[in-house]
Amino acid sequence: MKVDVLLGLQWGDEGKGKVVDVLTPKYDIITRFQGGPNAGHTLEFNNIKHVLHNIPSGIFHENKLNIIGNGVVLDPITFKKEIDELKKKGFNISKKLMISKKAHLILPTHRILDAASEASKGKTKIGSTLKGIGPTYMDKTGRNGLRVGDILNNFDEKYKALKEKHIKLLEGYNFKYDIAEFEKELQEGIDCLKEFKIIDSEIEINNLLKSGHSVLAEGAQGTLLDIDFGSYPFVTSSNTISAGACIGLGVAPTTIGQVYGIFKAYCTRVGSGPFPTELFDQTGENIREFGHEFGATTGRPRRCGWIDLVALKYAVMINGVTQLIMTKGDVLSQFDVIKACTAYKVGDEIFEQFPYELAQDLEPVYTELPGWKQDLTKLKSEDEFPEELNKYIDFIEQELEVPITIISVGPDREQTIVRDNHK
Ligand code: GDP
Ligand code: IMO
Ligand code: MG
Repeated sequence: MKVDVLLGLQWGDEGKGKVVDVLTPKYDIITRFQGGPNAGHTLEFNNIKHVLHNIPSGIFHENKLNIIGNGVVLDPITFKKEIDELKKKGFNISKKLMISKKAHLILPTHRILDAASEASKGKTKIGSTLKGIGPTYMDKTGRNGLRVGDILNNFDEKYKALKEKHIKLLEGYNFKYDIAEFEKELQEGIDCLKEFKIIDSEIEINNLLKSGHSVLAEGAQGTLLDIDFGSYPFVTSSNTISAGACIGLGVAPTTIGQVYGIFKAYCTRVGSGPFPTELFDQTGENIREFGHEFGATTGRPRRCGWIDLVALKYAVMINGVTQLIMTKGDVLSQFDVIKACTAYKVGDEIFEQFPYELAQDLEPVYTELPGWKQDLTKLKSEDEFPEELNKYIDFIEQELEVPITIISVGPDREQTIVRDNHK
């Protein structure tokens, strides 16, 4: 069987958690392959909202296995908080979740280093979620990191050695911190991790594929935050693209099947960095308000703007997207006119290729489309779509040359319309 991948095509928060939950019944195993608790994946059913940070979004279905892959960075402290939260809500997931021995551990000093690094950057800060993601991946590639497998063998000694290295690094920053308060929590987090099956996930996943099981790999962040192809340096520290699934799970490129690329009908970004179609006016405010555009991890207001088809075309190319998923079209129901960026302009020059850098003086060139001015949130099938929404969908499909096979019209599981006949 194949590994299908679902990943964000913009700057994150496209609705990955919701749609992974919707697609889970079609799969046996749901996995995360990169990122860590910088992710905030929201899903809703039975009028209850859940936000997941470390745990794959397949966790609410029975008889499905969820795996945290080797490419993920895992913080025992936030992991325990997430498990406790789920237990409080009546979900005991200890039998449904397995964790790769090779996933790297986020330590309290990684989080402190993240905060110290951001503070030292002043105006040029990345706008990190301060979850310790950058420093942990730096230790991974710098060959200093600790992995989940290390908690099973002589952990205290290894932890102490790495903590000492971090304390030396922190001397280079003028930054106040207190590790002691985190260390008790770290121990509790590690005890919590030990309640789960810690596995050689690459072997497990390949064996499961061989024996006819299907896998859905759930991306975190989005293509424009990819460490190689995103708006560097305002990116995260992992490969968020489809190729990242091979590295982050230990599966061969030939095992990848469908690549679902998910995008909002408009565009948002949290944190710093360029955003050509960002709106600073009332329209942007309205999108934020109607779309409840506030970060699921940090609560920060998300920056809002029109859809950017230049960036999306690039994302479709890099990921080899085979099917598109559009979310949050319902948020645009208020507008008479909807704009879509189809090119960029600098001075008199117009170009359609995603550039090396999204320079400050770059202006979006828009195509205007009529709005649908109709509530979409109760629609059940595409036969009920207003004509203007169909036009918007057709326009995007033509520009991106990939079919949109799922349309999400609200945060709930039920508010999902599948267009299988468009495959
Ligand atoms: P993720 O990080 O990609 O999983 O996305 P987030 O959970 O961070 O942000 C997406 C937000 O939009 C969440 O609050 C979802 O509940 C919500 N959402 C998802 N799909 C839709 C949709 O089609 N319409 C509306 N109105 N909200 C949606
Ligand atoms: P999900 O999976 C949106 C952004 C941060 C910051 C940059 C680097 O919910 O889509 P980091 O903490 O990774 O060092 O931050 O990346 N960022 C996200 N933005 N959604 C996310 O995840 C994000 N994870 C990180 O805001 O600009
Ligand atoms: Mg999110």
